[in-house]
Amino acid sequence: MQSQATYNYKVVRQFAVMTVIWGIVGMLVGVIIAAQLVWPELNVHEWLSYGRLRPLHTNAVIFAFGGCALFATSYFAVQRTSHAPLFAPALAAFTFWGWQLVIVLAAVSLPLGITSGKEYAELEWPIDILITLVWVSYAVVFFGTIVKRTVSHIYVANWFFGGFILTVAVLHLVNSAAVPVTLFKSYSAYAGVQDAMVQWWYGHNAVGFFLTAGFLGMMYYFVPKQAGRPVYSYRLSVVHFWALIFTYMWAGPHHLHYTALPDWTQSVGMIFSLILLAPSWGGMINGIMTLSGAWHKLRDDPILKFMITSLSFYGMSTFEGPMMSIKTVNALSHYTDWTVGHVHSGALGWVAMISIGSIYYLLPRLFGKPEMHSKKLIEVHFWIATIGVVLYIASMWIAGVMQGLMWRATNVDGTLTYSFVESVKATYPFWTIRLLGGLLFLSGMLIMAYNMFLTMAGGKAVDAPVLAPAAAH
Ligand code: HEM
Ligand code: HEM
Repeated sequence: MQSQATYNYKVVRQFAVMTVIWGIVGMLVGVIIAAQLVWPELNVHEWLSYGRLRPLHTNAVIFAFGGCALFATSYFAVQRTSHAPLFAPALAAFTFWGWQLVIVLAAVSLPLGITSGKEYAELEWPIDILITLVWVSYAVVFFGTIVKRTVSHIYVANWFFGGFILTVAVLHLVNSAAVPVTLFKSYSAYAGVQDAMVQWWYGHNAVGFFLTAGFLGMMYYFVPKQAGRPVYSYRLSVVHFWALIFTYMWAGPHHLHYTALPDWTQSVGMIFSLILLAPSWGGMINGIMTLSGAWHKLRDDPILKFMITSLSFYGMSTFEGPMMSIKTVNALSHYTDWTVGHVHSGALGWVAMISIGSIYYLLPRLFGKPEMHSKKLIEVHFWIATIGVVLYIASMWIAGVMQGLMWRATNVDGTLTYSFVESVKATYPFWTIRLLGGLLFLSGMLIMAYNMFLTMAGGKAVDAPVLAPAAAH
């Protein structure tokens, strides 16, 4: 059955371009708060103070940058692997505009101090309702496309994307349950330690599903595509999927070690976090080994360099995380910059780099060009970004361990050796190095935007024809 139907690339184009734009905005705010830690006098106004901009940074990078990257790549991959254009194109367009509205509302409400106070779920209840509408539409478009597919198999990338969409829906609904008192203020439906547990069940699974499962979907589609090789082990990818989604759900309490949470619950969190090392590394190995027989491509393909480096950082952060979940290690790392270093080795090293690689793969295909305007600039971007991440996380590791050791140091008479402010003073050099790392990473994003606009300027929007049911994709 030959048809003239084309894939819906329009919404993919929109999300892909906004990934780069929001990436720049979110990381710029990251650089600003990093600078505020070095120069507190930069807190010039309450709207632009550290306490208001920090949640703006996390929301912008996770939900605006990461979210747009996930929408773009999942919409692309699900159509291509299903040999079917997106189901309900009007709803797909709504997901784009609705998600942008959520982002703009976040950018206005957070600096104004309108917040529910729950980390990574700060947005107030009217915005939460809008998120729910967009997310349900996303699920309808995604799963509708799967239902419409003209190939019997559901490729593994879609399992990860699908798992991410379903779980985020559940997490959002449960954790955002609240009693509104005014248009801008609500109180959580949970109280005390239950509230903390629900929040970190959400928080950790936001890491596991928003910042990991969806990006693993990206890995399973774009790494084989860019490498020109099949996935190393399809069987491993299926085991990876089930093991990962089962284990992540239980690890949340490692965020609440030494709190009022029952001790056994903390131990369950710790044990599942340790187990999580296995599926995480299984996935990483599957991604990296996809290059077997094609290692030489790494020499001169900067997009592949982004992807494989991102997997190395994924491996590193998923080794570090289980170690930090051990209670005695957490006693040192908690509250320190070590956590912040861990976060960014996952966020910049893994999430941002796999997204950047995948968006570089997409852009020329979406704009009818054989390749990006400048391959050289992708190479420059890669090196600047890599040096930036390394400066960021190495400085935070050192700062974090130093802070932890200073806080617990005691004199022979039992008094504390250092006052808190002494540990702050000792951290300044490391915050400066982190700022430099952040500036480098942000510069890389600006280079990407330049390269993207020149690629778009020389090309035009194209929608590829839908592949016939039996054809290879
Ligand atoms: C096997 C995988 C992982 C485990 C077991 C793990 C474990 C941990 C632990 C123990 C903490 C410190 C909690 C605390 O002391 O407060 C933490 C914090 C964090 N991790 Fe991971 N981690 C893993 C992977 C990742 C990845 C891949 C990312 C990012 C993409 C990530 C993002 C975060 C974030 C954002 C926090 C900070 C949460 C907060 O306090 O706001 N983690 N993780
Ligand atoms: C130019 C790049 C970036 C810079 C300079 C930067 C800087 C910062 C700073 C200064 C903080 C506050 C740390 C503190 O409270 O002590 C922070 C927190 C955070 N950032 Fe970034 N960031 C960048 C990119 C990203 C990206 C791409 C992501 C996610 C995809 C991300 C996710 C987070 C998260 C989850 C936190 C909260 C960590 C926690 O509560 O432990 N950041 N960032």
